[in-house]
Amino acid sequence: MFYLLKCFIQMKILLNNIDLNEALFDISNIGFVPTMGSLHNGHISLIKKSLKLSNKTIVSIFVNPKQFNNKEDFKKYPRNIKKDLKILKKLQVDFVYLPKIKDIYKAKNRIKIKLNKHDKIMCAKYRKGHFEGVIEIMTRLTKIVNPSKIFMGEKDLQQLLLVKRFVEKNFNSKIISCKTIRDKNKLALSSRNTLLKKDDLSKASKIAKNLLIFKKKLSNNKNLKDLIFMKKNELKKKYDIKIDYLELRDAKKLRLTNKIKNAKIFIAYYIKKVRLIDNF
Ligand code: PAF
Repeated sequence: MFYLLKCFIQMKILLNNIDLNEALFDISNIGFVPTMGSLHNGHISLIKKSLKLSNKTIVSIFVNPKQFNNKEDFKKYPRNIKKDLKILKKLQVDFVYLPKIKDIYKAKNRIKIKLNKHDKIMCAKYRKGHFEGVIEIMTRLTKIVNPSKIFMGEKDLQQLLLVKRFVEKNFNSKIISCKTIRDKNKLALSSRNTLLKKDDLSKASKIAKNLLIFKKKLSNNKNLKDLIFMKKNELKKKYDIKIDYLELRDAKKLRLTNKIKNAKIFIAYYIKKVRLIDNF
């Protein structure tokens, strides 16, 4: 009966903050999945988790210009709104929020985000201003949507941990961390994968498989620092890629470590002009 009822309830598309406030004003336990669109199975797993754990689920699609440290990257970021809406409708999401710039960035609500010195590692070091932009948009979206839970993926673990710290300190919303989804060739799903040609996708899969095997083989009695240094050189040569970083860090505080327990290998690299990140 509940299933039948749900089939008749239409997904509502909210095009501005007036629509959003009207739709959400008396709803509790809202699950929120923030996205920049070009949805894939990674997003779908976040949405399914939200549908399970929340009264209502809202998905936002907003390609946030402030988190791009490179104008060209912003322009080329994949956009596919028609396909996205089809996917969301099929999933029976309750609300889709498609804000305009003016809904998010009102001049009078200036927000200044400052990262600590120890946060300026990995993507924060190589993409200046990126996380300030992510934390600002997540602060603004959380204020607007006021969700109980926000669902975010572990593929972007540095982003997830930073947003968790800022958002949970300032709002009553909880960040729910969701596992990375990989395709059958072990490549972590990412909207940016659509920018890769077939050969490059195959290269990215080989790199993921290589690092998954490497991580399994690492153990505490070896000199991990040297092994990681050698692996970085091997990957660069073998796959002809530019690597921003390949580092072993503890998975909670993201401190560099020489112990494999509770640690992850983090990588950011370029295949041609496409920047990919992953962790294992
Ligand atoms: O991971 C993303 O897609 C974006 O960084 C996010 C969290 C939606 C903020 O724009």
